[in-house]
Amino acid sequence: MNIRNSEPADLMNMQHCNMLCLPENYLMKYYFYHGLSWPQLSYVAEDSKGNIVGYVLAKMEEDPDEATHGHITSLAVKRTHRRLGLARKLMDHASRAMVECFKAKYVSLHVRVSNRAALRLYADTLKFEQSEVEAKYYADGEDAFAMKRDLTKLLSELPTPRKLYIPFREKNNSVTKPTEVDNEDTAPTGVIFDEKDFADKAIAQSGVDVFAEDNLAKTLESTTLS
Ligand SMILES: CC(C)(COP(=O)(O)OP(=O)(O)OC[C@H]1O[C@@H](n2cnc3c(N)ncnc32)[C@H](O)[C@@H]1OP(=O)(O)O)[C@@H](O)C(=O)NCCC(=O)NCCS
Repeated sequence: MNIRNSEPADLMNMQHCNMLCLPENYLMKYYFYHGLSWPQLSYVAEDSKGNIVGYVLAKMEEDPDEATHGHITSLAVKRTHRRLGLARKLMDHASRAMVECFKAKYVSLHVRVSNRAALRLYADTLKFEQSEVEAKYYADGEDAFAMKRDLTKLLSELPTPRKLYIPFREKNNSVTKPTEVDNEDTAPTGVIFDEKDFADKAIAQSGVDVFAEDNLAKTLESTTLS
């Protein structure tokens, strides 16, 4: 069994799994909305043949009045593969991605008040807390528990990005490798950036190649120390 980030090609199989397991079904465009807007957050569980046996569909909430947080739109594991820990792992992967990619402080979800399996998973295993009851939340009139899981501990454990000092190209074209600095104020004149600013750490750490990239050079200029 393998848990991996979902890809656009998985979305139809995720929808199929959803229709097998849950009465809340969504149009394909809603899966694409999630997959294209927050590709980091949704995960699938696949068997040894690559068949999708479970998924979590997740997103970030975009209300500027609330603390940054993610939301679990849907979670399901096929009957044949339940009680193997897949839902717990899918939820943990999505939550971690919310923290690492978006600095989420918590994750929220809704669950039917009658869904004992999911309630056990959320409350007992994953330590979600019930925040309120939303009356008649579901189309058939059933109430939902709104639940939240605090992610601030996970957030505080994120490694601090290293500060790298990259000297400008010398007249003789020699360039030293980027070096890590503790204190930007006392670092020699050059360029300092947060490692996290670069999607591809390999480029940032490769030294000479950094300066061969025009676009990157412009970015670097804007972060030049005065
Ligand atoms: C709820 C659901 C996603 C759980 O998936 P799963 O992969 O079987 O869950 P896990 O194996 O990760 O279970 C982790 C823990 O959750 C609890 N749990 C899961 N299923 C349970 C059940 N049927 N009864 C009681 N507790 C259950 C247990 O504490 C379990 O730990 P344990 O197996 O060590 O006792 C799955 O039953 C499902 O797809 N149900 C239909 C769709 C659904 O209800 N989705 C949630 C909508 S909000």
